[in-house]
Formats: sequence, structure tokens, C-alpha cells
Amino acid sequence: MYKKIITLLERWLVKIYKKLEDVILELRHQLYFMDFEERESDIFIVTYLKSGTTWMQVILHNLVTEGNMDFNHIYDVSPWPKNQSFLGEPVEKINSLPEPRIIKSHDDYAFFNKEMKGKIIYVFRDGKDVAVSLYHHHKNYKDPDITFDENFEEFFTKEKAVMNWFKFNKEWLENKKDLPVLYVTYEQLKNDLDKTLERIARYLNLNLTEEIINRVKTHASFEYMKTHESKFGLVPPVEEKKVYNEFIRKGKSGEGKVYMNAQQDEFFEKKYAEYIKPFINKFESK
Ligand code: A3P
Repeated sequence: MYKKIITLLERWLVKIYKKLEDVILELRHQLYFMDFEERESDIFIVTYLKSGTTWMQVILHNLVTEGNMDFNHIYDVSPWPKNQSFLGEPVEKINSLPEPRIIKSHDDYAFFNKEMKGKIIYVFRDGKDVAVSLYHHHKNYKDPDITFDENFEEFFTKEKAVMNWFKFNKEWLENKKDLPVLYVTYEQLKNDLDKTLERIARYLNLNLTEEIINRVKTHASFEYMKTHESKFGLVPPVEEKKVYNEFIRKGKSGEGKVYMNAQQDEFFEKKYAEYIKPFINKFESK
């Protein structure tokens, strides 16, 4: 009996501890943004997790700068403010970056306000493939025992989860505040990079040359990014966490269909029709 009580108490305290940790990180995030100097030239890459964020960071770095890949980590040239705030880095570091800044974000729609400065590129990826990529991410980095089903349940089925894939994407696609957003898909980047680069260039008023296109194709290729993975992989926030070395993992489309069982597939299709399908014309916008 005594052991049972102690076990329950321990579990309960761990839960509270984790919740408190989240609250502290959220406060840090808010404090960080109070000193963040917004600029008209800012380009935000907003995505749900595992949707091609890093890929788009490398593409934009090569489109808007001379594409020098001699950095230690992509965050040196394309920061992720939320991560930086969690790590306690000074906001001056991001404020002093040259224009245009390429800023990564996995923030939900509510985080951005109507009066924001800058432009947003939203990268959307097939949800079934995100489910697989996210599963591997969590398995390799956070929880070696997690199963695909548990991970699916947490991020796709649970309505109330902050990072519910359907809800997160729907709000961004709906864009009720009419924020300046260009919608690009992971699959468009894979299947028609040339056309997608043209859309991005038009949106950002950039001049595309043969040289720039070739530079993007070289530096943002899966092979290049895999070879130089340490420049792109996750930086563990605390020492005891292992360095994540599968950040650039497979880069394939269609894996989701293999992992999902019939019930998950049926659930996904139903939700997709309701949450995502009404907005897919946005992926074709000029
Ligand atoms: P997989 O796990 O399916 O391989 P994010 O940067 O948003 O975390 O997304 C990571 C996903 O994008 C991973 O998917 C990763 O392999 C893939 N990715 C990264 N660079 C890529 C590239 N150049 N081409 C294709 N996929 C890429």
C-alpha cells in the first residue's frame, strides 16, 4: 500500500514538474519576443513539425544571400527564436542579424498578430508522412520506447493537443487574419522545384538567375544536407540528451501509407476532408 502511494506521488510530481517546465519555457519565449525587433524584411518559415522546415531554411538562405554554407549550424544564419529563448540566448544575437532575416517558427496561428511585419512562407507536408517522420524523431531523440501508434494518438487523434496536426494546419490554412502567407508544399519542392522556386521568388520580389537556381539545387539537395547533417540536426538543449543524428532522415514521400493501419487511415481521411481539403487550392496560388 505504502509503495503504491509513493509511486503515485512520484508520478504526479513528475507530471507537475513537466507542466511547470513548459510554463517556464513559455514565459521565456514571451520575454524574448518582447525585445525582438520586428522588420519589414523578415521572412518567417512557419511549419508544423517535420514538414520540411530545415529544407526551406537552406533554400531561402541560398535564394536571399550568396549561399555561403560555411556556418556551424543553420540556426546561425536562420534562427529559431523559440529554441534560442529556451536556451537563454540573448535576443541581441537575432536583432543584429543582417536583413533579410530568415526565421524558423513552429508557432501556432494565434501567435502571430495582424500587424506583424514581414512575410510568411508556410510549408505544408502530407500528414501521413509527417506522422512517420515525427514518430522517428521522437523515437530517436526523446523516447526510444514510443510506438508509431502512441505517437499518432498524441499528435493526430487527441483533439486538445497543442500540436494536433489537423488543428494546427487548418488554422494556418484558413488564415482568418489575412496574414501575408505563401503556401508551399513539401511535395511541390520534391516534384517541381523549379516552379516552386519561381513562386517563392515572385512572392519575395527576388531575381532568379541560373546561378542561384543551381546553387539552391546543390546546397538544398537531400544528399548535400545528409552529408553535412551536423549543420542541420537538432542541437540538444541539455547535455544528457543524445545528439540527434537522424534529422535529415529519408526525405521520401509516401511512407505514411505503409505505417498506418486501416483504422488510422480511415480516421485520417475523414479528418482531412473536414480540416484540410477545403483549403488545398491555396497550394496553387501564384
Ligand atoms: P523524413 O523524416 O521523412 O526523412 P523538418 O526540417 O521540418 O524537421 O523536416 C524534417 C524532414 O524533412 C525529414 O523527413 C527530413 O529528412 C526531410 N528533409 C530535410 N532536408 C530535405 C531535403 N533536402 N530533401 C527532402 N527532404 C528533406
